[in-house]
Amino acid sequence: MNWVVESSASLRGVVSMPGDKSISHRALMHAVLAAGTSHIQNFLHAGVTEAMMRCVRDLGVGIEVEPPGGSATSGRLIVHGGQLRSPATNLDCHNSGATIRMLLGVLAGQRGLAVTLDGSAGLRRRPMKRVAEPLRLMGAEIPGDTPPLIIHGQPLHGIEYTLPVASAQVKAAMLLAALQAEGPTTIHEPGPSRDHSERMLRALGISVATHNQTVTLTPTGRPLPAFEAVVPGDISSAAFIFAAAALVPDSEVTVKDVGVNETRTGILDVLVALGGAVCIANVHEVNGELVADVTVKSSELRGMIVAGDLVVRMIDEFPIFAVLASQARGETIVREAEELRMKESDRIGSLAHELRQFGIPIEERPDGFVIEGPTRLRGAVVDSHGDHRLALALAVAGLIAEGETTVTRAEAYRESFPNFVDLLCSLGGKVHE
Ligand code: S3P
Repeated sequence: MNWVVESSASLRGVVSMPGDKSISHRALMHAVLAAGTSHIQNFLHAGVTEAMMRCVRDLGVGIEVEPPGGSATSGRLIVHGGQLRSPATNLDCHNSGATIRMLLGVLAGQRGLAVTLDGSAGLRRRPMKRVAEPLRLMGAEIPGDTPPLIIHGQPLHGIEYTLPVASAQVKAAMLLAALQAEGPTTIHEPGPSRDHSERMLRALGISVATHNQTVTLTPTGRPLPAFEAVVPGDISSAAFIFAAAALVPDSEVTVKDVGVNETRTGILDVLVALGGAVCIANVHEVNGELVADVTVKSSELRGMIVAGDLVVRMIDEFPIFAVLASQARGETIVREAEELRMKESDRIGSLAHELRQFGIPIEERPDGFVIEGPTRLRGAVVDSHGDHRLALALAVAGLIAEGETTVTRAEAYRESFPNFVDLLCSLGGKVHE
């Protein structure tokens, strides 16, 4: 499926985002391990979370969706957790890194269960040793390091482990295993990766101590209690709307009830550093997560440097950040971001190739890129590389390009932001299939 995007004059309005993808994944995994029925409000219904739901159902866990059969992008999930059984076939994690990694954490401690986890060709290429290794050290039996991955649940013991890369998915998988282990597990992280698991588990009464970048979980020896949770709006989806509002002249857009956990707000920090007009209001807490209304207006932007912890705090936002940088005066430099090459596409190589089609001068580096701006974009035919965040970022670039832009293989956007087109059109953006 292709998108056709036209240059848009002004974006205005107030919108809400679908539920946060990372928090939806974690809520479902915790509900699977919980004894009894849990309710998850504003759960994201999109490609990656549907993949996880199918796997969970294949493991014998009942899930009901409200509204039933509805096409809502976020709804209420009712999960009857506690009891897993061996599935009849391999679990298909499709293109979802979070699904395969977090399920490994859940399954590591499920004695007597033998499960094979597989996924798309793209998923098979993504690094899994980083999660298999610590789980093996905890006692899990995982003979290989690449999907299809076989896992035999075993009695687990807590470990102390230093993650080689800051990966919240690996940390989440270890915490899911740690809940089922004997004795505490301590994880040292090289960077401040998102801490949604820690917050959600604490809200469920689990002892999760955090000091600098070290997390220690002490298991209770009992299953998690069933719970009620509300998922905030996804800031990583909102990032495309913020950027569109910053870039399209004469725009002002408010995103309501969006998660502003500081391990995720790198994009807001860079918007401000670029010279963007950002206003954060009505900050409040929901289930241990900060939520707010964020307003962004169009403004003149200037170049900046992104490196270190900021890379971790905006790891999913580089495709759209690069589009912002193309309109910033002077040089924008991204360093220490080699992890971008491990995402749904090589997000340095694929981004550089596609942005050049708009006329953006971008220099690719092993660990990032350099963009000199501002550039007047010319409409182009560009490709998503099957990467949802690339599809969405290229559509936003099309809004400020002269003439028409076509994004090929645009359907990837359904992985995380299924109502993007409706939402953008409601604000005045011109995108259609
Ligand atoms: C996620 C962590 C990040 C991020 C992904 C979601 C999570 O991946 O890119 O979109 O939910 O924990 P890594 O853990 O591989 O960095």
